[in-house]
Amino acid sequence: MSKQPIGIFDSGVGGTSIWKEIQTLLPYENTIYLADSAHAPYGTKSTDAIIELSIKNTEYLIKQGCKLIVVACNTATTNAINTLRNTYNIPFIGIEPAIKPAALNTKTNAVGILATKGTLSSALFSKTSNLFANHITVIEQEGNGIVELIENGKLHSKDMRSLLELYLTPMIDAHIDYLVLGCTHYPYLMPLLVDLLPSNVKIIDSGEAVAKQTKSVLGKTNLLNSTLEIGEHAFFTNGNPSIMTSLLNPECHVEYLDF
Ligand code: DGL
Repeated sequence: MSKQPIGIFDSGVGGTSIWKEIQTLLPYENTIYLADSAHAPYGTKSTDAIIELSIKNTEYLIKQGCKLIVVACNTATTNAINTLRNTYNIPFIGIEPAIKPAALNTKTNAVGILATKGTLSSALFSKTSNLFANHITVIEQEGNGIVELIENGKLHSKDMRSLLELYLTPMIDAHIDYLVLGCTHYPYLMPLLVDLLPSNVKIIDSGEAVAKQTKSVLGKTNLLNSTLEIGEHAFFTNGNPSIMTSLLNPECHVEYLDF
């Protein structure tokens, strides 16, 4: 069982930012990555629709024999992970916006959070935000349009720069000193964000924490791959494989799959 792959899914290519963290921390693990790009973005869909798509992705990965599933999507985690955990008998690791460290460390008492509508409106996000960030100003911004641009291969475009300028201005005006990235597509915006934000603003995401949590859960459940051979990785997308390949190392092979 421990040689079985870790399954990872996202609404599209963004979760590859999480796959990279997992692969760095757990180089002997085999992985299968599923990008549901044909149904992206998830962030503007209803909770029921997000749950239905998350079940579809999970069932595919379970059929491939995955021993654990990483929901590498904040929107799917905040809307569907409870249902997945209650339905399937394998461990699930989710990703949520890292609002806690931002709220604990801010000096200006103002933090920005960029996430999808689906994440910001979820009960899970409200709960975390109320628990840790009640005492500070939180500027919540829906990142409408960002996922679509990345999914269409327009990461480095004028449109992306204009969108980010629009979304960051109210945060800069409110003197945030932390920006929380609440979507796994957003780490790919890092160079642009650094360019647009004042130099004192720290940008945080949850990718490394997810990889650490994955390692910890695999350890506790005796599922760590004890074979000391570099892991094998399969990438599937129901979108355009070349857009996904452009975000990965050239040796990663991405296959089209109709699912
Ligand atoms: N990567 C997904 C997330 O973390 C994007 C959601 C979407 O497709 O809107 O939320």
